[in-house]
Amino acid sequence: MKFIHLSDLHFHSRDVDNVDALTTLQYIQEHYPQHNLIITGDIVDDGHEKQFQQAFKALEPFMGRIFIAPGNHDFGAVGNFFSQERAERFDEFLSKPLKQGGTFTGDQTPVVNLLREGDNLKAMLIALDTNLETEHPFDFACGEVGERQLGFLKTVLRDPFAKDYKKILFFHHHPFIHNDPFMELIDARQLMRSIYNWVDVVLFGHKHVMGRWEKVNGTSYILASDNSPGKKIAWEIVVTPDPVKPITVNELAIS
Ligand SMILES: [Fe+2]
Ligand SMILES: [Fe+2]
Repeated sequence: MKFIHLSDLHFHSRDVDNVDALTTLQYIQEHYPQHNLIITGDIVDDGHEKQFQQAFKALEPFMGRIFIAPGNHDFGAVGNFFSQERAERFDEFLSKPLKQGGTFTGDQTPVVNLLREGDNLKAMLIALDTNLETEHPFDFACGEVGERQLGFLKTVLRDPFAKDYKKILFFHHHPFIHNDPFMELIDARQLMRSIYNWVDVVLFGHKHVMGRWEKVNGTSYILASDNSPGKKIAWEIVVTPDPVKPITVNELAIS
């Protein structure tokens, strides 16, 4: 089972402004028809309807193998002002038509998708909404998981049903940014404590910088994606039934 981690596509309203994103997605479609795609937010640039239409048109061909989480630019104008209307638009234009295992507005529970290959390869994909619902423009690029989502996440991970699944947790905000009042995930420490030894892979974006950490916080890999459009590589995550080395991560050409 193979995954490509992309992030921060920042779709604009006009095709001419989306050339890099469209070229990258086209390359992936042609070269990796079997890979699943995980996109960790900022799919559009400021939550405008036209941007969501552009993004959906480009992502629709990946239906059934694409998994998404929202970023601050999806839910807010210029990525700074949280807007309930834009948050709901994300679900209407992307989460629902792309058939995600749930929506991000409303009940504040993680969106879970279960994948299966053969008899003994199972993956649980868990998407979080880490957008901070604030009206203060200087807070909003910061993130928050929130008590309710954290509670549900703990329950999902510890359910005996989840035991046979390799678990991939993904969200938008970078959990290792500290002391930055404009960017940090304010409850990152609680999140990391909650998932310690319960998750295999953690993925995020937001900072537009690639990063890779191995064997930290009880995970196999923690990966940051840069803003993928126009970039040469992305992270590839390969999950196998091999009990010795079930997960590997590679650099994959995306242009
Ligand atoms: Fe971004
Ligand atoms: Fe962001």
